[in-house]
Amino acid sequence: MSTGITIALSKGRILQEAIPLFAGAGIHLAEDPEESRKLIIPSTDPTVRFLVIRASDVPTYVTWGAADVGIAGKDVLLEQEGLDLYEPLDLRIGICHMAVAEPAAMAADDAPQSWERVRIATKYPHITRHYFHSRGVQTEIIKLYGSMELAPLVGLADRIVDLVSSGRTLKENGLVEVEEIMPISSRLVVNRAAMKLKRRAIETLIRQLEAQVTP
Ligand code: PRP
Repeated sequence: MSTGITIALSKGRILQEAIPLFAGAGIHLAEDPEESRKLIIPSTDPTVRFLVIRASDVPTYVTWGAADVGIAGKDVLLEQEGLDLYEPLDLRIGICHMAVAEPAAMAADDAPQSWERVRIATKYPHITRHYFHSRGVQTEIIKLYGSMELAPLVGLADRIVDLVSSGRTLKENGLVEVEEIMPISSRLVVNRAAMKLKRRAIETLIRQLEAQVTP
């Protein structure tokens, strides 16, 4: 095992918000991952490199030790069952929430407290099943991989469970949020073996990032 640290993260919102945190910790990416097609990006610190991967693959790389550290949304971490990762830090980036949404016309005379059975399109079947089970509501879940907001518009499902940030995607598709399930933010995750074998370097990284986190 090398002594350097490999950090897995995903393009998009998380990356844009993570770059300043790393910069504040003195770690600068050698290339802009949004411009480059490279999947391994070195940093200005020769002991730190980044893997740029799909958000839902971050826990896999970290669990198997292909990356020592990763940044993953709490949504991704909760959706994947049986992860054995150390989660030392809420980075307070990628802030949004998970919610149930439905067409505005339907919401006008809908009463979530009286739901007995719902048909939900979502990328988050596990979280959705768990949430409605705890509410005593039966669910029929249709698994999708993106653009959930389309499903109620074409009759694939009555409602969706998805992340809401600005609310713009819901609004532009005539949907409204009817229940909030949970707040979401991105977490620093660490491989358990790496936490022991590279303790000093990883603890330093955690401390440096923690100092950058907005309270
Ligand atoms: C997320 C989410 C919504 C959208 C919400 O999708 O699934 O579609 O952002 O953001 P808003 O409330 O600011 O409109 P994302 O862009 O991450 O892509 P995805 O469909 O691949 O999840």
